[in-house]
Amino acid sequence: MNRMKVLVVGSGGREHALAWKLAQEAEVFAIPGNPGIAQVATIIAGATVSARSISEAVQNHGIELIVVGPEDPLVAGLGNELRANGIAVYGPDSAGAQLEASKAFSKEMMAAAGIPTAGFRTFHHAMEAEQYVRERYADGHSVAVKASGNALGKGVVVSDDVSEAVEAVHSMMVRKDFGDAGSTVVIEDRLRGREFSLLTIVGDQNFVSLPVSQDHKRAFDGDQGPNTGGMGTYSPCDWVTEAMVAEVEAHVVHPLLLELKRRHISYRGTLFTGVMMHHDRPYCLEFNVRFGDPETQTVMRRLGKGFLDALYQAATGGIVEPVEVLPHAAVTVVMASHGYPGNYVKGLPIQIGALPSGVELFHAGTALDGNGQLVTAGGRVLGVGATGGTVAEARQLAYSAAKLVEFPGGFCRTDIASHN
Ligand code: AMP
Ligand code: GLY
Repeated sequence: MNRMKVLVVGSGGREHALAWKLAQEAEVFAIPGNPGIAQVATIIAGATVSARSISEAVQNHGIELIVVGPEDPLVAGLGNELRANGIAVYGPDSAGAQLEASKAFSKEMMAAAGIPTAGFRTFHHAMEAEQYVRERYADGHSVAVKASGNALGKGVVVSDDVSEAVEAVHSMMVRKDFGDAGSTVVIEDRLRGREFSLLTIVGDQNFVSLPVSQDHKRAFDGDQGPNTGGMGTYSPCDWVTEAMVAEVEAHVVHPLLLELKRRHISYRGTLFTGVMMHHDRPYCLEFNVRFGDPETQTVMRRLGKGFLDALYQAATGGIVEPVEVLPHAAVTVVMASHGYPGNYVKGLPIQIGALPSGVELFHAGTALDGNGQLVTAGGRVLGVGATGGTVAEARQLAYSAAKLVEFPGGFCRTDIASHN
């Protein structure tokens, strides 16, 4: 039987993991891809992430499904344009993608749908935001100040110090440190608890969640240092019960999808729910409209059959069937460039030893130089992913494999998955 032809859009570790998984069931193409993705997929030379270029590739190669990795093209309307051309796309239209592009919209949707989330207000003027912070948090309650737009994970300041929170408002709204992303801010009451990520495949008729994973967002061990895109993930999370997941589905995912329908916003793609367990109840911290990175590198390792079909059914309006979940655990440790998430140099040579079985190396920021040498090309360079009977076993294997991956100044956290 001919394999379905699938195009993955994107060039990071998440897209490598998606292409790796989809290649088990499909013939995979990628735009723009990266050297790791090229090991499991055909990179379409000269193509760009635009509706015109992708539509051309669809015609030339007989592609039947597009899976969009990052949020930016979705926010810009790539899904709308491709669907208008009759192409099956996994990834929401720009209206749905506002759930990630605008925290103000996202919180408004949560409120309208009655979803448990931190108390909040949205502001368009700095003076009003400052006054609110001073009044509401004067008694020592902690606050989260968030730039509404996309600030690359840096636009959130959580603090128990009113002057620090006011300074955050200033930085976002007056100094415009995050450009337009900070013209609107959301000010939230601080919640406290452990976090996990739930990735849900959403179609017109139903939804199916994938196994829960947990990300480590701070750069350094012990959750120290600046926030990053994510330094490592693990799954399963023993402390997250089935009842907690069921509660998130019933009280967060389901009501959100009803609210989207009520507003005639069609949604075919991943809904990523960032959850915090606060006073033993799951609260929604945020929505993203795509797979998580590096959650996907871990979650893909835990899936068996049915992933391709689930994405295809979601993209074409069918019923999404549950995806097989494998009984083993998976851990991903991110190797990052010295200086990340701040400034770092690119173009440093990467040496990779012979990796043991059970290990996959997902390329995030790599490139080939003129001599065909693999070099660094981003802040997060590689995700070292391992599976094992338990999280502890997977963790041990991931760290032993990470020792075989070297580039000047490269670092990783040494405590990923150690507090499961
Ligand atoms: P967000 O992008 O909105 O998910 O925020 C990024 C991170 O900031 C989250 O993963 C949490 O660790 C933290 N955070 C966000 N909102 C809150 C809140 N209301 N209370 C406590 N921590 C928060
Ligand atoms: N790892 C968090 C995210 O993908 O947004």
